[in-house]
Amino acid sequence: MEVIITPSAGEASAEAARIVAALIRAKPRAVLGLATGSTPLGFYDALAEMHARGEVDFSQVTTFNLDEYTGLAPDHPRSYARFMQEHFFSRVNIAPGRIHIPDGLARDIPAHCEAYEAAIREAGGIDVQLLGIGSDGHIGFNEPSSSLGSRTRLKTLTERTIRDNARFFASPEEVPRHVITMGVRTILDARRCLVLAFGDAKAAAVAAMAEGPVTADVPASALQLHASCALLVDEEAAARLKRAEYYRWVYANKPAWQRTPQAQRP
Ligand code: GLP
Repeated sequence: MEVIITPSAGEASAEAARIVAALIRAKPRAVLGLATGSTPLGFYDALAEMHARGEVDFSQVTTFNLDEYTGLAPDHPRSYARFMQEHFFSRVNIAPGRIHIPDGLARDIPAHCEAYEAAIREAGGIDVQLLGIGSDGHIGFNEPSSSLGSRTRLKTLTERTIRDNARFFASPEEVPRHVITMGVRTILDARRCLVLAFGDAKAAAVAAMAEGPVTADVPASALQLHASCALLVDEEAAARLKRAEYYRWVYANKPAWQRTPQAQRP
C-alpha cells in the first residue's frame, strides 16, 4: 500500500481529485467507485471545481456507490443517494442513467445485490474506487468480521457505527440497522483503490489497516492485498503509523514519472 501523508485534508483531497480527473481524461468512459461520509466532501468539492473550470468532463463516466441504508428512499434526506446528489452529482455532468447506488428499498435484496455485481461487471469493472474508513476499520459498510471474500450483500451495522453515524440523524434510534454494501472482494476487484482518512479519530484504524495483520477483524486491512492501493492521510490520521518516516521518504524520492497523475492510472 502506498501511504501518502499530506499536511492537510485539503491537500489529500485535491491530490485524489487530480488522480481521478487524470484517469477520466485518459479514459473518458471510466468507471468510478464512490463513497459517502464526511471524509470525501473535499474530494467532491475539488472535482466539482475542476468541472466548473472545464478541466474534466463526466459525460461518459459511470459510477457505482459503495453502499446504502435499507429502508430509506433515494430522496430521504439521510440516504446516501441524496448525499451523492447534493454533494456531487448535481454539480457535474454525469448522465443520470450511468449512476448506480444500491436501492435501500429493494424488495428482494439478494437479487438486487446480484444485479449490482452484474452491473459492475457489465460496465467493465471499477477503474478507481474511492474509500473512507470507519473508526472500527470498516470499508463501505463491511463491518469487522466481514468475509474478506464477500460480495454485495445485506449487512448489520455495529453499535459503534450506529453511534458514529448518528450525527447525521436526529437520534441513534433513527439510524437504520441494516445496509446494502459492496463486499470486500468487490472492492478488491477495482483496478485501483484510493483511501482517504483524516483526523485523530481515524489514527488507530489507519494504523491497523496499513500495518496490522490482514484480518476480517479490520476489513480495511484486506487492502494490503491490493496491488494498487494508495492511502492519503493528514498528519492526525497518520499519527499512529510506525513507518511514517519511511512513507515520507518514499514519497519525497519518487521518480518523476511516478509523480504525474497520468502514470498512476490503472
Ligand atoms: C460510513 C460509510 C463509509 C465511510 C465511513 C466513514 O460508514 N459507509 O463508506 O468511510 O462512514 O465516515 P466518515 O468519512 O464520515 O468518517
